[in-house]
Formats: sequence, C-alpha cells, structure tokens
Amino acid sequence: MSNFTRRQLLVAAAPAVAATPLLKLAVDQKSAPAATHHLAGAHADMTGAMTPAPGGPHDLDALLYPPAALAHQPGRVREYEIAAVDREIEVAAGVFFAAWTYNGTVPGPVLRATEDDVLRVKFANGGSHPHTIHFHGIHPANMDGVFEVVEPGGSYTYEFPARPYGMHLYHCHSTPLKKHIAKGLYGALIIDPPAARRPALELVMVLSGFDTDGDGANNFYGVNGPAFYYAKYPIRVRRSQTVRIYLANLTEFDLINSFHLHGDFFRYYPTGSGESFEYTDTVMLCQGQRGIVEIDFSNTGRFMFHAHQSEFTELGWMGFFEVTD
Ligand code: CU
Ligand code: CU
Repeated sequence: MSNFTRRQLLVAAAPAVAATPLLKLAVDQKSAPAATHHLAGAHADMTGAMTPAPGGPHDLDALLYPPAALAHQPGRVREYEIAAVDREIEVAAGVFFAAWTYNGTVPGPVLRATEDDVLRVKFANGGSHPHTIHFHGIHPANMDGVFEVVEPGGSYTYEFPARPYGMHLYHCHSTPLKKHIAKGLYGALIIDPPAARRPALELVMVLSGFDTDGDGANNFYGVNGPAFYYAKYPIRVRRSQTVRIYLANLTEFDLINSFHLHGDFFRYYPTGSGESFEYTDTVMLCQGQRGIVEIDFSNTGRFMFHAHQSEFTELGWMGFFEVTD
C-alpha cells in the first residue's frame, strides 16, 4: 500500500484531527478515500498507541542515541563498516517504501569520531545501483565520494583524519543525486571537539521525507525515519539534564525543513562547530544544513517538537518529549 498521495493522506487524517484550514481544504477536494483505514485509529492528539506509526518502542534507539564520545587521542582509528542494501521499509503505518539504505535503515547508522581520530569507513555496495559515500568535512579529493563510484558488488575504503569538529552528515553522491538521496542513502556524522562537551543526554535527529508514489513530492516526513514515531513513543528526558540534539536535514524535494520546540527555548549552534549560538525555539534548515540543539527544560510534562511547516507536521514530522524530574 504505497500508492498514497499527500492529499489522500490529508483526507484520511481529517476526520480524526481537528480541522485546520489546511485539512478543511483537503476535505473539500473530495479525493479518493482508499487510504482511510490506515489512519482510522488516529487519535485527535496523535499521541501514544493510537498514533499511526510503525514499529516497536525501541526500534529506533540505535539511530536516536549516538555512540558515546571518546576522549581526544590523535591518530586513533575509528572504523565503521557500511553496506548499501536495497530494502523495503515501513515509513508510516501500513505504508511501505522501496528504499536504498546504508546498513538496512533510513537514515543509515550514526557515525562518530573525535577530532584527529582517523575515520575509516569500509563501504560495500550490496545494492542494485552504483553508490558512494560523500562525507561533509575536510578530506582529500579521492575520499570525497564523488568520482570513485562503487558499482554493485564493489567496495571502497574511505580513510581520513576526522575534522573539523561539529555535527556533519554523509550521503550517496551518485547521479542522479536527487534520486539517491530521496531513496534514503544518508546519515549523521558527529565529530567531537578535542575538549569534551559538557555532559548531556545526547540524541540524534535526522529529518527527511519519503516520496512513496514516485511523483517527485514527499508523501510522508519523519525524524530518524518513520512518520509519527516519536508521537507514538515520546522521548523521555529529565528536567535536570541538558538535552543535546545533533540535528541534520536530509529532506529531498522540499527546499527547507525546520525544528520547532514547544514550551521552551534552546541554544542552537550552527554546524556545531563553534561557541556562538542563537537562543530560539525554531530553526530552519535547507538540505545538508545541520547543527546542535541544547535544551534545558524549564518545566516537566509533555512538550511537542515538530516541523514548523504545518503540512510536514500533519504528514508525520512531529513528536513529543516527556519531561520528568
Ligand atoms: Cu547512491
Ligand atoms: Cu552533502
């Protein structure tokens, strides 16, 4: 059941959600109701078990919680193995997408190194198309993942000193680039500064969309993959602990995406590469833009986070923090 249009989904969701002007507009269009059953159980608040998100409560833990930072030790090798794999994934309840993945998930695995580590990534192309891995950061030309295209069945090892510190990303750079990114070949790359960041609960959020009907527009949006996932499974945090989010936007087709937090403000460090920050509750990101969000929650309770493009929110890019003492 991947033959969804954006409008069909909005129509399906409309009876369950208070009618915003956008949803009312969609209802007025009277589009085909074929998809209605997928969201028939949607609760008005889109919270908890009634939320139309696939998966179990810990399915995305490996994408949400990054590997621990290691102390600065120049020359240490951080080695990762990544395989490109064609795989059908469930991007919303009952909606499947024929993805191209790194290691079977969209986004791919979180890579982490400390500045001056040697980052070594052994890449094997087990997919059906030529792929590469292009990293953001500073590295030699032959490690850039543009010209050394890896054919199906082939492999390539990327190796370079990890720098500069910050929140980065990686993605396939084969052509057509738009297709290789839209299909799901991307992930987060964290490079830690030589002086450790202060303690925090660390999370990774990679923003993206899924064009499930192949019309060149996204039908669903999510954080670390599936639509509505963190609405179904709110992220539990403590008020006493800083929440640090490594945030990146890999959304294809739409020119911008955004992150908006309810009920509080956060420090936003663009690219995570310096000390200067903006104190805000909303940041806008184009594709490839990323940064570090640091939240010190003022209050306990349930707080929403979502794209401040309302349509993205209604198509899956929303979630909750559950803040306790
Ligand atoms: Cu590719
Ligand atoms: Cu890029």
